Amino acid sequence: MSTKDLNSALSARRLRLGMVGGGQGAYIGGIHRFAARLDGQFDLVAGAFDVDPAKGHAFAAEVFISPDRSYGDYQEMIAAERLRDDRIDVVAICTPNHTHFPIAAAFLEAGFDVICEKPLTTTQEDAVKLVQIAEETGRFLGVTYTYCGYPLIHQARAMVAAGEIGKVRVVQVEYPLEWMATAIEQGGNQQASWRTDPKRSGRGGSIGDIGTHAYHLAGFVSGLTLEALCADLATFVKGRVLDDNAHVMLRYEGGARGLLWSSQVAVGCSNGLRLRVFGDRGSLFWFQEEPNTLTHTPLGGVPQTIKRGNDRLTADAALRTRTPPGHPEGYIEAFANLYKGFAEAIRAKRSGLAPNAIRCNVPTGYDGLKGVSFVDAVVDSHEAGQAGWIKPDYV
Ligand code: NAI
Repeated sequence: MSTKDLNSALSARRLRLGMVGGGQGAYIGGIHRFAARLDGQFDLVAGAFDVDPAKGHAFAAEVFISPDRSYGDYQEMIAAERLRDDRIDVVAICTPNHTHFPIAAAFLEAGFDVICEKPLTTTQEDAVKLVQIAEETGRFLGVTYTYCGYPLIHQARAMVAAGEIGKVRVVQVEYPLEWMATAIEQGGNQQASWRTDPKRSGRGGSIGDIGTHAYHLAGFVSGLTLEALCADLATFVKGRVLDDNAHVMLRYEGGARGLLWSSQVAVGCSNGLRLRVFGDRGSLFWFQEEPNTLTHTPLGGVPQTIKRGNDRLTADAALRTRTPPGHPEGYIEAFANLYKGFAEAIRAKRSGLAPNAIRCNVPTGYDGLKGVSFVDAVVDSHEAGQAGWIKPDYV
């Protein structure tokens, strides 16, 4: 079947999804699988699930992938899938950071759409190239900045854009975690071991892993564009090379200021992503461990709780909720909202129709590039030294 025929049939069926990584014992691949399934837009039909082919095949059998579509590696997957009439439309890349670029580039060049984990690449140069490849091939490149999938994040974004808190002055965002407060990588923890290795993680430790989420979220909600930053990184756990704690001061165009904290050593914090946006006429507070509420405080007024599902919801937020208020929705649903948006964006691209701006508001390759560029700037700023640090005469 020609590509044209495949594309025109796309509106009448689920998208066929392939996956690289995400095998037995992996973390984020499983979340992708839940998310892709939730709205019935995707069927997972192929994969190269593990860096070890034997483990990958065993896992493929567990998730009922037909043996002829379980592949030993991503090159084999591309070579075989591109010859099939029922080939995958899109691939989800759920592997450690250093593999994103070669895998994503190869799938885009072979004509597949790509959903890639963050950080998009480990170098800015590769991220620029990847965005170029997506443009040149005309393929969709999405990046899974999970937290912008939450309905109340869309609510906050819409309220800021509508001027409900006035001109934004200050953005405070933090993403503290406890899980790497000790040297768990030395005990063989799979996820910590590549995250603490610059060859596989990139230049950033906590700042690349979770700081990029926080940075994206702050920009997504506030609508602000970064002008410059100043960073102070620390590595608290002995034997580590990359930062496990980062403080970053942000200056936005137009004069707003921001402060970003990412930490993998914050004892007592599970997934404490918190965003506070202060305008000259009000503020908005959101906390990812309580994602079904957003607090809006007008200047001089009392705090008002906006709940997922109530009638203050904007169209962007309402579109991203599935159950009535009071029934909790959370992380999986937020991730599924990204997948729903990716499906819309892919269908629009393939059909040549303009994407619906509200439904397709998902992070793309350019957002991924901005994240990688942010990490570079943070590490550069830290390495530039102590110019701004002054010790008071009396301490
Ligand atoms: P993980 O270590 O749990 O899983 C990685 C998987 O990739 C393993 O199954 C491994 O065998 C496989 N793999 C490695 N190289 C491969 C290759 N060349 N071909 C096929 N499979 C290969 O890692 P985790 O925590 O799931 O992270 C993966 C990616 O997802 C990272 O880029 C990370 O930054 C990102 N991530 C994103 C999150 C989000 O909220 N969007 C949350 C957690 C991770």
